[in-house]
Amino acid sequence: MFHGDTNKRKVFGLPEHATRTALPHTNGPRTHYNEPYRLYNLDVFEYELDEPMALYGAIPLVVSHGLKSTNEDTSSTVGALWLNPSETFVDVGEDSSGTKTIVRWISESGIIDLFLLPGSSPRALYQQYGQLTGTQELPPLFSLGYHQCRWNYKNEDDVASVHQKFEELDFPYDVLWLDIEHTDGKRYFTWDKRQFKHPVEMQQQLSAHGRRMVTIVDPHIKRDNGYYIYKEGHDEGFFLKDAKGKEYDGYCWPGGSGYLDFTSSTVRGWWAQQFALDKYKGSTVDLFTWNDMNEPSVFNGPEVSMSKDATNIAGIEHREWHNLYGQMFHRSTAEGLVLRHLPREEVLELKTSHPSDQVSVDLATVHRPFVLSRAFFAGSQRFGAIWTGDNAAKWSHLQIAAPMLLGINIGGLSFAGADVGGFFGNPSEELMTRWHQAASYQPFFRGHAHLDSKRREPWVFGEPTTSRLRAATMARYALLPFWYTTFYEASVTGFPVMRAMWLEFPQDVESFGLDDQWMIGNALLVKPVVQEGHTSVEVYFPGGTSQSARIMSA
Ligand code: NOJ
Repeated sequence: MFHGDTNKRKVFGLPEHATRTALPHTNGPRTHYNEPYRLYNLDVFEYELDEPMALYGAIPLVVSHGLKSTNEDTSSTVGALWLNPSETFVDVGEDSSGTKTIVRWISESGIIDLFLLPGSSPRALYQQYGQLTGTQELPPLFSLGYHQCRWNYKNEDDVASVHQKFEELDFPYDVLWLDIEHTDGKRYFTWDKRQFKHPVEMQQQLSAHGRRMVTIVDPHIKRDNGYYIYKEGHDEGFFLKDAKGKEYDGYCWPGGSGYLDFTSSTVRGWWAQQFALDKYKGSTVDLFTWNDMNEPSVFNGPEVSMSKDATNIAGIEHREWHNLYGQMFHRSTAEGLVLRHLPREEVLELKTSHPSDQVSVDLATVHRPFVLSRAFFAGSQRFGAIWTGDNAAKWSHLQIAAPMLLGINIGGLSFAGADVGGFFGNPSEELMTRWHQAASYQPFFRGHAHLDSKRREPWVFGEPTTSRLRAATMARYALLPFWYTTFYEASVTGFPVMRAMWLEFPQDVESFGLDDQWMIGNALLVKPVVQEGHTSVEVYFPGGTSQSARIMSA
């Protein structure tokens, strides 16, 4: 229960949901949803907006912020972390007198492990939360630039020509991404031998121009004895089991797949070693990783996920740790990208131990990993970036991106983004322009598109769109030192990078519900145009004499 006039106090957090940043109520006099917020990591096809339904990630943290009823000149920020990775439902409402906000939790399993964060300022709250779950990893500088992705860049010529076009246009970008089709039959850590014959040379051509590459590595492992990852994992007994005690067999991109037990530190240590340069053939130190489908997604499983009665090596059912699976996978991958810089003999000595205890802090500081994950849980900020999954090329999806990213930042994960342009479908020139402009002021900045979408690299639409996209990207790069400094601050203090207005202006009641404008750090106020046909926006300026102004946009 959070005390205080509910007109001057709001509840935030509980990502990931496609909803407002200030959480609409799920019961009580001002109910907006008829169902509680659900926290259960799922691969949701074409997700609906304005819904409390579960999405890819789950952070069981609520933050209540508002004016103190005893003294309305001051505010208080308090939080509660319900540390439970099983399926969880949370109701948010208020009492009939409007003086108490009531939050109710129910989890399928586990113990009640509730951490109360007394705040009472936003910064104090994030210091407390950072002590519990860790702070944002400091990303390598390049990863704060622009990323160009699509499902899929087809072959080495395609990669070379996309890269070349960026060069010709003097259009800044840092990373070119390869989706699942680059592999040999969706066997991760391998290459399609016809389309990607020279992966090392391909990466060297990019790195010669200061660019990096990312390849996708998913957790479903093709059940094929000729595939070394499967064979070794199987022989070692590293896969999850079904209720009958047989290796769990789920259907995903490669067909029948096994799922490694990332809850086991031994398995995580083994997985991390797969990123060694001599193990991941065709990889270089300029290759980084994308962890997708790690809710985990199982096409023929209940709700497209894993059966709750599957068990890990320790014999514990999946229902107990479902929401942690993706994070443990993310963690182990990030550790792998650090370990690959250690001499081989030292890595082998780590074989059965816990890699994160072994990876020297210095090594991780010098060779900072970059791993993007779709699934997440409280603490995922320590392992890299996340994105909001399969959105669509619609204005409504551009509009929801900021509220969702603000909510994820409130959950302590600063390095978050939404696919620019919308994953499904084909954005118009105007939507593409507005999306690119907005996303250049959001932490993780990546253009991506579905296999069936038309090409949409920044030059495809022609002028004046290309120049507009370029100008937005140049503005991002001009501010990179500021982004980097703000991330550094987050890595030390835990305070989010993309800030809801109230995090910076905690006494300004009018700003509590705002989620179409935000702060980057404490210095930059952002309000993008996200309505079709609009060329100006109304910006709210908080402070003693709050004012708004209409500002014209190009
Ligand atoms: C689902 C991911 O969300 C999407 O971004 C990716 O392109 C596809 N999987 C294929 O890997």
